Amino acid sequence: MTTSKKLFIKTYGCQMNVYDSERMAETLGGQGYVQTDTPDDADMILLNTCHIREKAAEKVYSELGRFKGLKSANPELKIGVAGCVAQAEGQEIINRAPLVDLVVGPQSYHRLPELEAKTQSGQKALDTDFPEEDKFERLKARPKAPRGPTAFLTVQEGCDKFCAFCVVPYTRGAEVSRPAARIIDEARDLVERGVREITLLGQNVNAYHGVGEGGEWGLARLIRALAEIDGLARIRFMTSHPNDMDDDLIAAHGDCEKLMPYLHLPVQSGSDRILKRMNRNHTSESYLRLIERIREARPDILISGDFIVGFPEETEADFQATMDLVAAVEYGQAYSFCYSPRPGTPAAERPQVPADEASERLQRLQALLAQQQRQVQESMVGREVGVLFEKPGREPGQMVGKSDYLHAVHVTDNDIEAGGLRRVRITGSGRNSLNGELVDCK
Ligand code: SAH
Ligand code: SF4
Ligand code: F3S
Repeated sequence: MTTSKKLFIKTYGCQMNVYDSERMAETLGGQGYVQTDTPDDADMILLNTCHIREKAAEKVYSELGRFKGLKSANPELKIGVAGCVAQAEGQEIINRAPLVDLVVGPQSYHRLPELEAKTQSGQKALDTDFPEEDKFERLKARPKAPRGPTAFLTVQEGCDKFCAFCVVPYTRGAEVSRPAARIIDEARDLVERGVREITLLGQNVNAYHGVGEGGEWGLARLIRALAEIDGLARIRFMTSHPNDMDDDLIAAHGDCEKLMPYLHLPVQSGSDRILKRMNRNHTSESYLRLIERIREARPDILISGDFIVGFPEETEADFQATMDLVAAVEYGQAYSFCYSPRPGTPAAERPQVPADEASERLQRLQALLAQQQRQVQESMVGREVGVLFEKPGREPGQMVGKSDYLHAVHVTDNDIEAGGLRRVRITGSGRNSLNGELVDCK
């Protein structure tokens, strides 16, 4: 019997990293590690990193610097870097931060036990291959511990789109979809352990094309199969590419009750010239038409988006086209960023927009997006929505959950339990959340 060792994992970046961190913790559980929520007494620290923008990548090195003291106090402490920075920089991380013992890329997590053993024998361990085998196949099965009401489930990884600004196709590799049967099994297992809402994840989740009964399944078919699972109340998915929103997936938003009325559909820019330079392969017009069709299928759907401002060669007119597109869509949620040149991507080599111009544009865009988000949130007041309650709020007797539209909702009522899915009338809209009262009896 192995003695228990403590594992501290810090996760950066997207939800796929959150999911991967859970799976890594489970895998290392087989080596006798239990998770701890502080690095101070850990036997192993793992940083699960993000390379999407320069700031995200640089954070890793400043965080590593902070572990120097811990490492000199406890030379047995192992420090590992996983995720997209590990994939992008590999050995360079150990060169720059010699206290690092282990570097593992996102496609090699199933090799963690061997890598960990190597560090125990005093060697550095590095694995940034894109192996043929499916990492999920070999990752240790989830233990049967009870869980909270919501969970992520990765169904697809990697990206073949090669947007000119983006590192993901390099850090996560080519698009790979998991077989439908394995996803359904994992979902059933999650539901048995208390999960009521599953968010299907993929860098390009709607490009899902996994092997299923009778041939290849698209995402809509997978969602419809998951909807058959008793006890699973809600299904969501992210992140989608406009070009992979097929007819069946649009229709599912209208006819699959368990599929929630929320769609994250990044567009990046409203200028056709810039979209072309970004290699997005769609126009602002085709995006707007797509949104129209989705809203025909599900009129109340909340649309969320991602935007990049200050992409190389973006002019004020290009930026205005983005503002016009935003005005036309009315986003309920949005994430926007200044363009960050990433090593090895085509756009990094092009003439850059001055930083102050880009950040001034970002401010204008964010003001418009914030106004739209507020309006959409306020339009919920007086409506009745489903809320899946997750945890107690700050005030006594208060519970917090997420509405069908993913707004945080606070309700004070002693009749609510975590994991309860209840009908709530929205009574007020605060800064970042809604307040409401129960309309149903148990
Ligand atoms: N697969 C998703 C997005 C993945 S990355 C899609 O196709 O939309 C998440 C977001 O980060 C992107 O939507 C984009 O808005 C932003 N992003 C990606 N690379 C960036 C870069 N180099 N600079 C600034 N933002 C970037
Ligand atoms: Fe990156 Fe998304 Fe473009 Fe793929 S589709 S390259 S993940 S922004
Ligand atoms: Fe970041 Fe990698 Fe996700 S670069 S956004 S952690 S896929």
